Amino acid sequence: MTSDPDPAAEHAPAAEPDPVAEPSPGDPYAGAFDRMREIDATAQPGDADVEASLRPRSLHEFVGQPRVREQLELVLEGAKRRGDPPDHILLSGPPGLGKTSLAMIIAQELGAAIRLTSGPALERAGDLAAMLSNLVPGDVLFIDEIHRIARPAEEMLYLAMEDFRVDVIVGKGPGATSIPLDVAPFTLVGATTRAGSLTGPLRDRFGFTGHMEFYEDAELEQVLNRAAGILGIELLPDGAEEIAGRCRGTPRVANRLLRRVRDFAEVRADGIIRRDVARDALAVYDVDELGLDRLDRAVLAALVRSFHGGPVGVSTLAVAVGEEAGTVEEVCEPYLVRAGMLARTPRGRVATPLAWTHLGLTPPADAPAGHRINPLF
Ligand SMILES: Nc1ncnc2c1ncn2[C@@H]1O[C@H](COP(=O)(O)OP(=O)(O)O)[C@@H](O)[C@H]1O
Ligand SMILES: [Mg+2]
Repeated sequence: MTSDPDPAAEHAPAAEPDPVAEPSPGDPYAGAFDRMREIDATAQPGDADVEASLRPRSLHEFVGQPRVREQLELVLEGAKRRGDPPDHILLSGPPGLGKTSLAMIIAQELGAAIRLTSGPALERAGDLAAMLSNLVPGDVLFIDEIHRIARPAEEMLYLAMEDFRVDVIVGKGPGATSIPLDVAPFTLVGATTRAGSLTGPLRDRFGFTGHMEFYEDAELEQVLNRAAGILGIELLPDGAEEIAGRCRGTPRVANRLLRRVRDFAEVRADGIIRRDVARDALAVYDVDELGLDRLDRAVLAALVRSFHGGPVGVSTLAVAVGEEAGTVEEVCEPYLVRAGMLARTPRGRVATPLAWTHLGLTPPADAPAGHRINPLF
């Protein structure tokens, strides 16, 4: 699934394909340049329709992330008062936490048009130059997975971000000339699942970085209740609580699980989602009581059984479970760390006692303590 800009797309347990990734019928960014202002996720068929209908439309509707929301409110309000486009904004965090939704909200709050592209789509500097030269003043340019942008495009972006200018190289070899072009003042919104892989010069050109955190269970219940309302699903409070506890702190997963549980409730029960219905449904889909899926459990099992709890390097671990290192690092690890089962050490990844007990094993006496970020887990 190289067509999806979201690395989570590669992570697909059989029973529930892509529990994390954004559905994408082909590359949603392909031809983004041609589509210009018509970019509207609701135009995509299938699952994407549902996701689009569930996207919060304003900061007010956006559940959770109180810090990022407050910070963004100030950035946007300040810019609006001055009548300038705001500083460039970077949104960083694991997949499914609302980065794309926030980018759209930023444009919405500014009353600006948004143009979407992604790092992998900007292979040649010319692709970016075309996009930049078509911006109108105040536009929001959204670059998803910005850490994957090719180097020549990245270098062009520096100048565009700083001076609203690009140098287009015309011709080849000794006869090549560089033609400076003006770019309309715009706001770049970059999203990344790996803020650490951004180069220093690129990171420095963002005026504000929003660090997205995993959601608390109570916030996920709000996300679920909101989605149930929109989709016309009868979700009882204990059903919402059960699903919220198993969606790894991620709204996208919450919405996915809600739809899968609805299928189960309609086919095997009376359509109403109660705790027992949710529990039975999630067992069918291989989601355990902590929200770990098959890949998460495979990573833990490899760490514990094949490497005796570690330390082991992430690429070795990835090979052991037959996944790409990036998927293990960006999709599995952040949640396993947050759940207190895996610790990152300078020598590699290690399993905490909780990982052993979660797999029904007895931890060795020297297993390191996990850093539990959320005491509820
Ligand atoms: N704060 C939120 N409140 C309500 N729903 C959310 C929120 N964040 C994300 N979602 C839901 O999760 C889905 C995925 O969010 P998205 O913005 O695409 O995440 P990302 O770009 O970080 O991977 C959205 O379609 C939306 O339904
Ligand atoms: Mg996204």
